[in-house]
Amino acid sequence: LLSFIVLLLALSIFAEIKIGVLLPLTGGISAFGDWTKKGIELAHKQKGTALGEKITLVYADTRSEKTEAANAMARLIDKEKVVAVIGEIASSNSMAAAEIAEARKVPQVAVTSTNPLVTQGKKFVSRVCFIDPLQGTALAEFAAKNLKAKKVTIFVDIEQDYSVGLTNYFTERFEKKYKGQVLKVQYKSGDQEFSAQISQAIAFGSDVIMMTGYYNEIALIAQQARSMGYKGYFIAGDGADAPELVKIGGKAVEGLYFTTHYVPEAATTKLAKDFVEAFKKQYGTMPAMNAALGYDAYMLIVDAIERAKSKDPVKINTAIRSTKGFQGVSGTITIDENGNAIKDVIIVKVQNGQFKYETRIEPKDLQ
Ligand code: PHE
Repeated sequence: LLSFIVLLLALSIFAEIKIGVLLPLTGGISAFGDWTKKGIELAHKQKGTALGEKITLVYADTRSEKTEAANAMARLIDKEKVVAVIGEIASSNSMAAAEIAEARKVPQVAVTSTNPLVTQGKKFVSRVCFIDPLQGTALAEFAAKNLKAKKVTIFVDIEQDYSVGLTNYFTERFEKKYKGQVLKVQYKSGDQEFSAQISQAIAFGSDVIMMTGYYNEIALIAQQARSMGYKGYFIAGDGADAPELVKIGGKAVEGLYFTTHYVPEAATTKLAKDFVEAFKKQYGTMPAMNAALGYDAYMLIVDAIERAKSKDPVKINTAIRSTKGFQGVSGTITIDENGNAIKDVIIVKVQNGQFKYETRIEPKDLQ
């Protein structure tokens, strides 16, 4: 009997809930991973238990690529026995990991993966962000109405589902509704030299260059386009949203507009303001967008675990999928029947090296 009691005690002391964190911690988009991790860690520090048990975070690095994303997801589930997974960031990586989560019936909550295919047809994959049909439409409206754009050259990263998708959603709206002209030029993640595509963009007479990839290449394209004499606007999607954009791009990215999920300046609720303060105190810097969404992904999962009153991944998933009006620091999150969050699109402008809130577009205005 004594040993039984000791065993019970030991079990209760060591009882823990493991949440997997699948992020690009090294490789091409590691800045996104680092910022997300900072947000998740702050959330974990503020709320480190669920159902009276300690929550342990188990990190897995995708090295910013798909194959490793799938492998890392399998490791988290099969070896670490996590009950849910936060991640990834890039749509292509989230999609590769999602195949595994779906097959194992463990909930995955993608952070800022915006391509529709990430959750499409999946029961166990959700996300805390809007999707690219909305983002692409918002960008087309902004380019046509606010920038009076007629000719747009889009730099497409053909290795990223996100970039290809966003390009198409923009083009559809811009050509159909505004009769604008679009030229698409291609590159691949990791490319460094864009002069051939920039020459095409200039020859086309672009009044806007749009970059639908990630911050590294966006910064380089902007620099090279300016040095080749391009004087028009730059616009981009949420793939621009890391402070590293300015570190790499410097003056060349001044004036760039991009769509995104969150900017600290637009924080209005007490919860959102407290988050900014807590983040500054913890890290000595303002939170980047990915930090806020990482924070929300973690808190939403913990909330779902409490509502499920269970550590069973299937039950937790059901709770995640029935999230309604969850108060996050990036806004209110309601998960729809496809696992997507319904949220506003925020437009930001790079000004004096900072991301300045420009405007907000609500889903109902984009019908
Ligand atoms: N939305 C991008 C994708 O789906 C990822 C991303 C989000 C990148 C936010 C940067 C910031 O791939």
